[in-house]
Amino acid sequence: MQPGRLDHVGIAVTDLAAARALYERVLGLEVTHEEVIEDQGVHELLLRAGDAYVQLLSTRDPDSPVGRFLARRGEGVHHVGYAVPDVAAAVADLRAQGFEVIDPAPRIGSGGTTIAFLHPKSMQGVLVELVEEGTGHRG
Ligand code: CO
Repeated sequence: MQPGRLDHVGIAVTDLAAARALYERVLGLEVTHEEVIEDQGVHELLLRAGDAYVQLLSTRDPDSPVGRFLARRGEGVHHVGYAVPDVAAAVADLRAQGFEVIDPAPRIGSGGTTIAFLHPKSMQGVLVELVEEGTGHRG
């Protein structure tokens, strides 16, 4: 597997507008992409931070993965995303090595990306997302 570039840090928040204002004011970041991802029940804002992004995630659905995370852990870092050239190949390789994968078949993420999550059990407690850039524009 080729080394993954840090793509984004996903942060679960209860108030998207307040979180956006905070990152704009404190760190001078700008929102470059906004999307509602229906199948994950999330509303996301991507803010460019150098070569990577901060991904702010909020939800109105308490039964969504982000909703359950907020109920259990409160606001905070939810996952770390790494860019890889081929998510399907990376997942197949990791599964063959015995890694636990949440998405055995990669799915469509925001901004036309292809993504798959690795289980925190296999990544020392961190939810890791593999991201393959698509044709969409994320800024
Ligand atoms: Co993400």
